[in-house]
Amino acid sequence: MAITVSENGRLFTLHTKNSSYQMFADPFGTLLHLYYGKRMDGENLSDLILRTDMGFCGNPPQAGADRTYSLDYLPQEAPSSGVGDYREDFVRITHADGSCAAQFLFESFQVTDGSYPIPGMPALYDTAGETGQTLTITLKEACSGVRLQLFYGIFEQADIITRALRVENAGKSPVVLEKALSMSMDIPFGNHDMLCFTGRHAMERTVERVPVGRAAVQIGSTRGTSSHQYNPSMILLSPTATEDAGDCYGFCLVYSGNFTASAQKDQREQTRVQMGIHPDRFSFRLAPGKSFSTPQVIMSYSSCGLTALSQNYHHILREHMCRGVWKHERRPVLINNWEATYFDFNREKLLSIASQAAELGIEMLVLDDGWFGKRDDDNSGLGDWFVNTDKLGGSLCALSDDIHRMGMKFGLWFEPEMISEDSDLYRAHPDWALQIPGREPNRGRNQLVLDMANPQVRDYLLERLTDILSGARIDYVKWDMNRSICDAYSSYLGPQRTGEVCHRYVLGVYDLMERFLARFPDVLLEGCSGGGGRFDAAMLYYSPQIWCSDNTDAINRLSIQYGTSFFYPISAVGSHVSACPNHQTGRSVPFRTRGDVAMAGSFGYELDLNQVSEQEKEEVTKQVSDFLHFYPLTHEGDYYRLTAPGKAPFMAWEFVDQNRDRAMLTLVQTESCGNPLPIHTDIRGLDPEKKYRCLSNGAVRSGASWMGAGFTPDHILKQYESLVVEFVRES
Ligand code: DGJ
Repeated sequence: MAITVSENGRLFTLHTKNSSYQMFADPFGTLLHLYYGKRMDGENLSDLILRTDMGFCGNPPQAGADRTYSLDYLPQEAPSSGVGDYREDFVRITHADGSCAAQFLFESFQVTDGSYPIPGMPALYDTAGETGQTLTITLKEACSGVRLQLFYGIFEQADIITRALRVENAGKSPVVLEKALSMSMDIPFGNHDMLCFTGRHAMERTVERVPVGRAAVQIGSTRGTSSHQYNPSMILLSPTATEDAGDCYGFCLVYSGNFTASAQKDQREQTRVQMGIHPDRFSFRLAPGKSFSTPQVIMSYSSCGLTALSQNYHHILREHMCRGVWKHERRPVLINNWEATYFDFNREKLLSIASQAAELGIEMLVLDDGWFGKRDDDNSGLGDWFVNTDKLGGSLCALSDDIHRMGMKFGLWFEPEMISEDSDLYRAHPDWALQIPGREPNRGRNQLVLDMANPQVRDYLLERLTDILSGARIDYVKWDMNRSICDAYSSYLGPQRTGEVCHRYVLGVYDLMERFLARFPDVLLEGCSGGGGRFDAAMLYYSPQIWCSDNTDAINRLSIQYGTSFFYPISAVGSHVSACPNHQTGRSVPFRTRGDVAMAGSFGYELDLNQVSEQEKEEVTKQVSDFLHFYPLTHEGDYYRLTAPGKAPFMAWEFVDQNRDRAMLTLVQTESCGNPLPIHTDIRGLDPEKKYRCLSNGAVRSGASWMGAGFTPDHILKQYESLVVEFVRES
């Protein structure tokens, strides 16, 4: 049984294949956290909590004269607010009388088959391969009618536990929710580091490892999107944990807006871990009978290091978050015209790129920014989603037909959530932009943000998208979003609901994407926010691939794609071969290396094929055929990080297919020096009992030997040179 409940209905143990999670509603009704770690048998572990009179740790009324019972140190699942737990709270409520206090007490529980949906938001879903189970625990606020429903979802075989929260105002007076996180958990013992994924535009998801102590470690976004700066994911791991050893806990928020994630030790050295919607600039009015649902957190535990943890996430996101026909369908190799032409294109240029691409085996042309409204640079036109037939030398239908006649698919760029002040849409509906009355708005990329909370705005956008997609043969849409949100005031919601704008914006985006996909289920959607500014699990519900970064420099991509791989499946990582010197960094990297790096992702090109030499064109043909050859490994196989940026003079990674019949090893030399030394890498994931032939040097060894002794290339690699090595099972 994945969920067991004691006879008295107060001890709850969740089991996955390799982990267990236990909590206990104590006699006073506090839901205590007892354990999350390696799978155990489910005996009551409440004796791990030693109660002491700690001084300056007050006692709730339920404890009477017992001074050892304090909310200030007990390890909890749903901590109280304003009533004596001085650590970070979980749910903060201002009541109608102005008081701000909440204590949550156990009321009931329910175990159900199947995973739980979250209204209006993405969540892991059941498949024929695995169905989840759900434990719902209801807590009642001590003095008001507010109730919490804590959801715990389990995908037993996948080693995944999820959490989410629903707050219901079952009282008679309105309340204001000032904070509602998705999860809180107090780990009673042990030391941990936090691994988080930080960065900036064009340098996303740099891995940072910091020790968790009494000073809080906190990351988050208040930019309206999940952001380039901090990814909504974190790992707590023992200080000695590595790729293949040690305790690791993953936390991944299924949300695309403002978020917070934190870990902090308390006075008893217990670690409080929290994740959810950022409480800054958030408040939500709950009238009697109304409820608020938080996004989901996907948790996983590995006792054997980071690789296993990442593989758990790759599996669950690929199988239970990505949806639609493109979930397992092979994605086309694309060529995008952005870095080839930017805004300076016309029909002839596009057709010439497409015809050459078709000859080289590329399967789809993506027409990026600039095909609509008045848009020859990034200062105007957003919102006017009408084809610029002058620029395209005819209709979009004619262009897409011409592309299809070449045997290629056709894709189109949109940035639906934005509006330029220099647009017909803004001239007609200035109130559709987020801006504060009486205050000149801040611009980002010289554009404003549409009020996605306003249903009229969403209806307009759906109508425009539908019109464009119905009028031409469009197989793919790149959905971009190119600024951070501020001035978050919605004329539609009005002054009373300003605290709801950012969350309702995100719900509005989900609503529009959902309706768009319902109308065009066969379209492949690629997410994008200036590259990887909205690279999160929720977006994968709509778009099985996301443009990973606006930085296409293959060497920078090594660390960006490395950081991305901790949570997100490689199939989700949009990655292109671009021109050199690279447009972002000015660096030159061999064409082959650019291909080998881009192949660890959803592969494509982003350069002007008119500027490419004959030799490079041959390289393109080979890369496309290599990509197709390795597709089952890169898109459905297990991924292994073999090095980390800066830890060796090269980067290496490996894919192994599900049957452990084939493996693909990629090496990229990142540094060079005089009198260079040979490099050597581990090999992982093979079947130790089986024999494998290395197709690069012909050696046949057992999986145990390859994994024990590793691999050394037969020559010294020059700086930025890459090598792909295939291993094939012989017996
Ligand atoms: C940002 C994206 O990340 C780029 O790939 C490109 O689509 C531009 N926007 C177009 O404005």
